Amino acid sequence: MNEPKKNTPDRETGSPVTRAIHGIPHPDPHRALNPPLYQTSTYTFPDMETVDRVLSGEEKGYIYSRGGNPTVSRFEEVVSLLEKGEASRAFASGMGAISATILHLSRGNRTVHLPVTLYSGTRAFARKFLEPWGVPVRWFDPRPEGWLEKLDATLQEGDGCVFLESPTNPTMDILDLRELSALCRAKNVPVVVDNTFATPVLQNPLLLGCDLVIHSATKYLGGHGDLLGGVVTGASGTIDVLRGEEGSFLGATLSPFNAWLLLRGIKTLSLRMEKHTANARAVASFLAGHPKVRQVFYPGIPSHPGYSIARRQMSSPGGMLSFELSDARTARNVCDRLSLVGIGVSLGDPESLIEHPWSMSHRWIGEEERRAIGVSPGFLRMSVGLEAWEDLVLDLDRALG
Ligand SMILES: Cc1ncc(COP(=O)(O)O)c(C=O)c1O
Repeated sequence: MNEPKKNTPDRETGSPVTRAIHGIPHPDPHRALNPPLYQTSTYTFPDMETVDRVLSGEEKGYIYSRGGNPTVSRFEEVVSLLEKGEASRAFASGMGAISATILHLSRGNRTVHLPVTLYSGTRAFARKFLEPWGVPVRWFDPRPEGWLEKLDATLQEGDGCVFLESPTNPTMDILDLRELSALCRAKNVPVVVDNTFATPVLQNPLLLGCDLVIHSATKYLGGHGDLLGGVVTGASGTIDVLRGEEGSFLGATLSPFNAWLLLRGIKTLSLRMEKHTANARAVASFLAGHPKVRQVFYPGIPSHPGYSIARRQMSSPGGMLSFELSDARTARNVCDRLSLVGIGVSLGDPESLIEHPWSMSHRWIGEEERRAIGVSPGFLRMSVGLEAWEDLVLDLDRALG
């Protein structure tokens, strides 16, 4: 078997660009540039002695792909490299990763602290499952001055976790991850960050003191709108237990083919994030100057309340933005009039997508609650794609006009 060259990118200092492209070289009998796709559900054993050694953990080996698969493992290793974590566990979707992680950390009915500004699916999971099952959920608002002190007053030693996003979906709030994790560490409460909007190229929550980082790999990691996936990264002790318990027995396992597509997508992640960000900056500055736009929510513009925190904890503000028009009818008309930008709930794809949370992602949340979250009837969220920014601005200009 061909030994890999000794040019493995350094976990601490190697550039994310190099890490994303090279990953961790593995031995391959054919010296193939790309990793093999192990499209198998199960693994066979030469004899019962090997069965005993593998099942007892004495020897490393795969048993059944719900528990582990070599292509999936390779994806997990690359995400660990990018997020600078010890280990990762992949899931069939972002929600698979989120639900398994929260269930794991809230075992024994430990309190879960959640911000009101949260991806609507995570919010629905808390409302439809955690709360009815009696898991204590404490909601906090991470926007008003002094929110950290308020949260601190409700945190108890032994609570399950604080789970949050930054930037938040869809309101684009920026939460100070370093301050939050210092505060939680003092009370021994793990902090879990959904880093989907930022990607590991723009933000590494573990380096800011957080305990676990989650991605909907469906979005920027895959980057082509052709798969669903999720992943959680952190200390190997936690990840190993998660892998063997919720990660195996809730059944939301990433398919080998999707892992293989993810490995391919990740190679261009840094490059794509540069272009997504450059395009989003151009679109945000166009929208900010448009008379019909009441407000633009993009952490790359100095008037954004989270601008300086974003500059501290992110290497760039990324490709997501939101903006507010006068009312729902105007917002829906703009969506209808756009010809290049598609109407769709997902994000992180080469194609720009717009969504009207009032009619789409937040449709099933009560009106009063939507407004409290910051989702007004005229609020639109845009995933700025990889097209020429001039075409996007032209499309928006026509639709707004
Ligand atoms: C921030 C965020 N987290 C998690 C998810 C859920 O991911 P998935 O759709 O892969 O389950 C989404 C989906 O839109 C998201 O935007």
